[in-house]
Amino acid sequence: MIKKIGRNDPCWCGSGRKYKQCHEEFDHKIENYRKQGHLVPEHRLIKSPEQIEKIRESAKVNVEVLDTVAEKIAIGMSTEDIDRIVYEVTTKHGAIPAPLNYEGFPKSVCTSVNDAVCHGIPSPDEILQDGDIINVDCSTILNGYFSDSSRMFLLGNVSEENRKLVEVVRESVYKGLEEVKPWGFLGDMGQAVHDHIRANGYSVVREIGGHGVGLEFHEDPWVGYTTKRGTDMLLVPGMMFTIEPMVNMGKPEIFVDEENDWTVYTEDGSMSAQWEIQVLVTEDGHEVISW
Ligand code: MF3
Ligand code: CO
Repeated sequence: MIKKIGRNDPCWCGSGRKYKQCHEEFDHKIENYRKQGHLVPEHRLIKSPEQIEKIRESAKVNVEVLDTVAEKIAIGMSTEDIDRIVYEVTTKHGAIPAPLNYEGFPKSVCTSVNDAVCHGIPSPDEILQDGDIINVDCSTILNGYFSDSSRMFLLGNVSEENRKLVEVVRESVYKGLEEVKPWGFLGDMGQAVHDHIRANGYSVVREIGGHGVGLEFHEDPWVGYTTKRGTDMLLVPGMMFTIEPMVNMGKPEIFVDEENDWTVYTEDGSMSAQWEIQVLVTEDGHEVISW
């Protein structure tokens, strides 16, 4: 973990300060956790203040895109209409929708309706109906920096049962967020999310999780919700990742649409909901970067 870096050499973080006056003590602290058997972050997962500022700029666009979707989404629109809004607002700011052409994904945003868990592909044939619940997952690249968040929208007369699912998942994300702090563990967050979901009788999808984000779309660590408090990666200031549990009303099992090879559905046809926020670990806790 600790590279052979002289105490008077410039710090690896790019601050221009001497290592001994910058991250030397920090590295020793991390090394102690590693020796105790914990998974610890590599330097490349720790963002500099300059990088964080660039990522914040990207997230500003991402949040504006989702705010615009929130204003305009309505029964009778197609998911393709949502795609068009996302593309227009993103590119108006000189940014790029990160999903577009990502590993062959054909659209600018993921739109996942009802029993679609994630990675729904916008289509002119998919018309939003009274009572639908939909996740709109937006990711933005601005000047090479990535932001990523998603929200649920309720269309018209959504059943009490489905409303509750959506609300509980939102609550679970913020219960997880409260656990994000330096020198804590990713599992502290994961367990808080999972406990809330289980307490309400829902199940969390195990195969798909959150991820580090910022310099790339998907970085380490992988962020699951079935890990226990005090386990999984050590959290240190400058780390950035998403909290984005996918929650099924019924069983946790999922399958991928064979026609498009993208869209994930619940195996039992039950409703699924997801909220996603992008979070920075700060010196004294956390900052929500995109929501
Ligand atoms: N936005 C999704 C995430 O949270 C990723 C979608 S990948 C895509 O990680 F290609 F489907 F867009
Ligand atoms: Co994500």
